[in-house]
Amino acid sequence: MTHVFRIRLAGALLLLGTATSAVLAGTGPAQQAIIANFAAQAKAADPTFSGFSAQRGEAFFHARHAGGKPDTPTCTTCHTTNLKAPGKTRAGKEIAPMAVSANPKRITDPAEVAKWFRRNCKDVVGRECTVSEKGDVLAYLASQ
Ligand code: HEC
Repeated sequence: MTHVFRIRLAGALLLLGTATSAVLAGTGPAQQAIIANFAAQAKAADPTFSGFSAQRGEAFFHARHAGGKPDTPTCTTCHTTNLKAPGKTRAGKEIAPMAVSANPKRITDPAEVAKWFRRNCKDVVGRECTVSEKGDVLAYLASQ
């Protein structure tokens, strides 16, 4: 079982492209499996997909988006521009740091990742994020 899983994961990691694989160097198997799964989806949607980009993820995360709620124009409204520091919800509740290096629990539960992308993308961008936007953001968080 573990063996099969490892082979699948290795196959999926090949899809990531060298840029993303380098980014994953500091992460554990849980993060790698989640990001590999996004890469498989991206590849299925677009056969020319060549890997996620932490730089594109950084730009997306820090950009001001139109179309979402006026009081949350950017991901950094809650997560701040310093990913290694805690953020804050609108209600003032602390959010643990987003950088995997500062918070090893980040990107370890696929259900949490899906739930928060759904909610946060709707609030900030006014729609669901695309698979490539999500993968780029995860590559960015994993690289930090
Ligand atoms: C209104 C405040 C708020 C905004 C704006 C916001 N987030 Fe979040 N985000 C949260 C909260 C709260 C959590 C859940 C608590 C936690 O994971 O520590 C969370 C969790 C996440 C997670 C889950 C991480 C994991 O480890 O599973 C991701 C990914 C994420 N946010 C990405 C984004 C992105 C991308 C944006 C911009 C499009 C964004 N967030 C904007 C509040 C926000």
